[in-house]
Formats: sequence, structure tokens, C-alpha cells
Amino acid sequence: PETGSLSIVVLGASGDLAKKKTFPALFNLYKQGFLLEDEVLIFGYARTKISDEELRNRLRGYLIKDKDASSEHLEAVSKFLHLVKYVSGSYDSEDDFRLLDKEISKHESETNTTEGSSRRLFYLALPPSVYPSVSKMIKTTCMNKSDLGGWTRVVVEKPFGKDLESAEQLSNQIGGLFEEPQIYRIDHYLGKELVQNMLVLRFANRLFLPLWNRDNIANVQIVFREDFGTEGRGGYFDQYGIIRDIIQNHLLQIFCLVAMEKPVSLRPEHIRDEKVKVLQSVLPIKDNDVVLGQYEGYRDDPTVPDNSNTPTFATVVLRVHNERWEGVPFILKAGKALGSRKADIRIQFKDVPGDIFKCQKQGRNEFVIRLQPSEAMYMKLTVKQPGLEMSTAQSELDLSYRQRYQGVTIPEAYERLILDTIRGDQQHFVRRDELKASWEIFTPLLHRIDKGELKSIPYKSGSRGPAEADELLEKAGYVQTHGYIWIPPTL
Ligand code: BG6
Repeated sequence: PETGSLSIVVLGASGDLAKKKTFPALFNLYKQGFLLEDEVLIFGYARTKISDEELRNRLRGYLIKDKDASSEHLEAVSKFLHLVKYVSGSYDSEDDFRLLDKEISKHESETNTTEGSSRRLFYLALPPSVYPSVSKMIKTTCMNKSDLGGWTRVVVEKPFGKDLESAEQLSNQIGGLFEEPQIYRIDHYLGKELVQNMLVLRFANRLFLPLWNRDNIANVQIVFREDFGTEGRGGYFDQYGIIRDIIQNHLLQIFCLVAMEKPVSLRPEHIRDEKVKVLQSVLPIKDNDVVLGQYEGYRDDPTVPDNSNTPTFATVVLRVHNERWEGVPFILKAGKALGSRKADIRIQFKDVPGDIFKCQKQGRNEFVIRLQPSEAMYMKLTVKQPGLEMSTAQSELDLSYRQRYQGVTIPEAYERLILDTIRGDQQHFVRRDELKASWEIFTPLLHRIDKGELKSIPYKSGSRGPAEADELLEKAGYVQTHGYIWIPPTL
């Protein structure tokens, strides 16, 4: 592994993302020994004029959630906070960024007493409107200057634009300043344990290889539900809507991993090549393959216009035009303010040809991957109902992580992705052409929605979303299993 000074700069240090995700992830990495005290300094950068100590105090609240935190945890937090410094400055002032550069250089000269590299990671936890100016400032003033090696990497968060054109514009701006290997576009769903498992599952198991295609699979659902609304983020959300917030990025990334062909190797570029290919095989979305919804009460938020048509729910059926998937609908569904919080991938198999048990069956085979909460995968099977009678029942082969991997802590998505950035592994980051291909799929639909040509149907908070979405599901060929519920095992 590389050694020498490592400077992590969190821009937008006082924002929500930084406090809730970035700093806690950095802390966890520190706690597990991935950030070494004699190498690392973390700079929080933002406009607010506060002291190091004030930033540390604010962060402490996010790092110590548990009132009964152990003394070990408390000690780790205070040691970690010693590695955090604050630099205040604006996002477009060269002088301020020169100051930041001076602080980083000071850290580097103190750390690398004899020799060593200069590693500089800039995490943009910022609204996209300031990406161009911040990127330019970093490029002009803060790049790694050591002859002894090292690097400069920039982590950016969605939204990457609002449609194809604006995304390309942003890509051009950032791409004009940094090389692709320096740009880490985060989609935090790619850091989730079971999303990372997809390639292993698909390509390391003989069991799945011959089944994973249109001959056997009837339909695929990729579903995201949240049981809360857009509380506090209405202003942001109303500009974007659920398709830009969840489907075009998180669910589409999962779609890629489910649908792509086997990569030539595990090299990041090979994997991303396949993702781009499958995205390019998606056909234009038809209006009757879409149902939009908006929960009642969404417009009560004072930051949301009274006549907003922004969807907080959407079901979109994607059709893939290739040899493996022709005719298999991929149903992407996401919603806020629904009855539950979960995310899963549901692969439904076709009926058994010439089925002699047909009249007594509860449903089809399904392979379900529960991404969250309570990571699990289970395979729904028809088995003989135990007992004297010869009847069938739907049951499952169940791999529930909590039970199977007792005592194993599953890392947070951001933790992994930041570590990947430090290690220079771009496998779980979105490449520029991938981003472009994903916008190409959704832009025409989004423009029609923005013009009001497709309307969001109202639905009740805490419900399943509009009934029309279930009808679309059925029309796409999904067959509901009746009378079966998967019960996660308890320890
Ligand atoms: C974010 C969206 O990208 O993902 C949020 O902007 C959403 O609207 C969040 O709540 C969900 O992430 P997770 O990891 O909690 O499922």
C-alpha cells in the first residue's frame, strides 16, 4: 500500500451529507485502522466562519449517537477529531483555496519528514451549482505538487446534472480539469453489501449461469421504498423528483449489475464497459410503461409549489433489446412515503412447462435479494407440505446475513467507497460514458414529465403507491404469490 501524507478535504463540511455520511464514514475507517494517525489530516472546508474546535464539537454529536457509548468509542472519537481541522473560505475565491493549499502543504511537509508522497482527496459534499467553480479552484491551486509521487482525486456526488444536456455540460467542465482516473462519481448504492455481491453471485455460481436469461426469467423488479416523505428537502426534491433522485442512478446501477454480460475480467474498466453496453441496449421508454405518483401532503411543504407535478413515486418498465433479455421486462419502482422502508431485487422465473402440480401451486420461483434492511437473499421454491398429505407449499432457501454471518459488521456504503478512492479502485464508481448512457435512457421521459405531459397520480402516505402501478406490474407479467410471506429468521 501507498504511504506518506494523506490529506482528505471535505468541501461543504457543515452540510448534511458531510455530517451524516462523510465524516462518520471517515471515522469508521479510522477506527478500523485504515487511516493512520501519522499520515492523515482531514480538512473540513466551508463558508461558515467557525474554529477547529467548533467543527469538532458539531461532528461529535454525529459520531456519538449512543448515550451509553463505551469509553473506548469515546476515546476513538476524540483521537479522530484531533485529525480534523477546519478551513473557512468561499467556493470561488482563489485566495481562500491558496490558503487551503498552504495548510495541506504544511501537513505534507510535517508528515513526510524524509520522503513520501502527497495524496490529496477532495470530497465535494456540495450542491452541484458550485462544482464547476470548486473544481477549477482545486485545479488551479490545490493539486499534488510532489515529485515523489502521490495523486489528486476528486469525489463528486449526484445530482450530476438534470438531463443529458446539463450532465454532459458538467462532465465537460469537470473533464476539462481532471482526467477520468481522478474523478470518482459516487453512487452510494454501489457500496452496499448485496449490490457488491451481484457479480459474485451471477458469475461464480454454475447454478445461475444457464438460468439467467429470457428462456427462464419472466421479469425482474428492482424496488426502493421509503416510509418517509421529503421532509426538510422539499425544495431540492421538487427540482428533481424520484426518477432523478433514485431511479436514474441507484436503481439503474443495480439494473446494470443484474442485466450486464460477463465482463472480460474483474478490472474496473472491463466491468464498466459491460455496464455501458447493457445501458445502450435499453429501448426508449414508452408512456404506457410508466406510472407516476405523488403522495398527498407533499405540497404542504412550504418549499414545494402548490401545483407541483413532481413525482415522489414512479414505476418504469425498461425493455432491453439484446439476445439475453428480449421480452423480459425490468420493472424499476421507487417511492417515498410508502408503507415500508426496503430495497430489493426480485427475479421471477417462468412457469414450469407441462406442470403436473399446477392446480395446487401458490406461485412461481423467485430469487429475491434484499438489499436493506436486514440483508438477505432467498429463493422461493415449491416443496411438498410436510405431513401425510401430498400437497405443495411455497417455501424458501434462505440466506439471511444476520443469522449466517453472526458477529460480522457490514460496512456502510460510504465507508467502502471512500476506502476505494484512497486505494484508487474505480470499479464501484460511475464512469463518464455510463453516466451519459443513463441520462440518454431517461431524458426524453423526464422532459415529458417536466412539461406536464405525464401526470403524477395522488396516493396516500403509508400506502403501496397508486393502484395503477400494481396494474402495470401485472400487465408486465408479474405474477403475485398468494398466501406466502417470507419471514426473516430470528436469532
Ligand atoms: C439518496 C436520495 O441518494 O438516497 C435520498 O437522494 C434517499 O432521497 C437516499 O433517501 C436513500 O439511501 P439509503 O442508503 O438510505 O437507501
